[in-house]
Amino acid sequence: MESFLSKHWQKRALFMSNALQQLQPAITRNELGWLATLEDVESRLVFAERQDGRCRYRVESGPFDSATLSNLPKRDWTLLVHDVEKHIPAMRALFNIVPFIPHWRIDDLMVSFAAPGGGVGPHLDNYDVFLCQGIGVRNWHFTEQELPTDPLASDDLSLITEFVGTEIDAVEGDILYLPPGTAHWGTARRACMTYSIGMRAPEVADLAYALNIPTPDEGALYRDPDLDASEAVPGWVSDAAANRALALLGLPSNRRDQVSTALGRFGTENKDWLKPDGTSPDETKTWLAHLLAGGGLEVHGMSQIAFDGRNLFVNGVCFPLPPESGAVLKEICADRQLSRSKKRDPKLTEMLAFLLTQGAFEIPEKVRPYVK
Ligand code: SIN
Ligand code: CO
Repeated sequence: MESFLSKHWQKRALFMSNALQQLQPAITRNELGWLATLEDVESRLVFAERQDGRCRYRVESGPFDSATLSNLPKRDWTLLVHDVEKHIPAMRALFNIVPFIPHWRIDDLMVSFAAPGGGVGPHLDNYDVFLCQGIGVRNWHFTEQELPTDPLASDDLSLITEFVGTEIDAVEGDILYLPPGTAHWGTARRACMTYSIGMRAPEVADLAYALNIPTPDEGALYRDPDLDASEAVPGWVSDAAANRALALLGLPSNRRDQVSTALGRFGTENKDWLKPDGTSPDETKTWLAHLLAGGGLEVHGMSQIAFDGRNLFVNGVCFPLPPESGAVLKEICADRQLSRSKKRDPKLTEMLAFLLTQGAFEIPEKVRPYVK
């Protein structure tokens, strides 16, 4: 892990053959198809159309009806579903594959199913990604070389010219790590599923805007090539992260707290269509009494929670941490739940109410609030 961080993280690609015995938990092709029929799930079908010795890629956006999904051709298409862990919270366990990455740096789990010959074509991504191979075999080409875009390859995707680079066949349990901007191109040799753990990094310009200072570096993203595994405490926005952002923004250390707040807010912001509903005033009253009495609740699958030394961040909104909140914070961030316990400290009342109103918890429809 230490050697991965120092030699590869944000620096160089790495193919890890047999990194896992089996990819667990996994989802089936049918479950992926079902997700792709849902309104609030972002999904795409990409068709690789081969003609006259070249390939063009065409994209259709979901949701799809089940008839479309069950009548697809035998070859040359892939179905991609984004933010799978937000819709099926158990899939978040796959993030344990990268325990050395701080939570707020992880964006989503994208899962693809590709029929033989399927793939999204040669391209670059702006963020680091761990491409974890599930069932089947995927042929990958990747290179750190700079390659020109190929406008003829697709009207829908921004693709680069085909290339050879390093070529490998990934089978179940293999992981390909790619830093931002590494050209890659994956094609299913046999029908296959690929689980992509994709990172997020705030834009330096967005941080500058939030701090009301001129943008020093248009287009640049937060970077942490010197990331240390000790920073990956569940939910924590480390002091080192704030120091890196200070340096990228060219700000003095007396603005560290503000920079850390901006990181926490951007690091927990939800995509517009993936915002959990907060509780109404009546629900807040009921469920707050439940939590204070020692009742349990699960963290909502779409909820993003982080903290630094001063604040709690929930779905892009910040709240000052009360004293004695450490154990509750730890449980929420590490276990994504508050389990049944003895009565909770009334000093936590406002923080728990904030969590409820920001949609941090999944509010059960059938279970009655628990009052001792
Ligand atoms: C895929 O799963 O087909 C796409 C992954 C990627 O190339 O980023
Ligand atoms: Co990619």
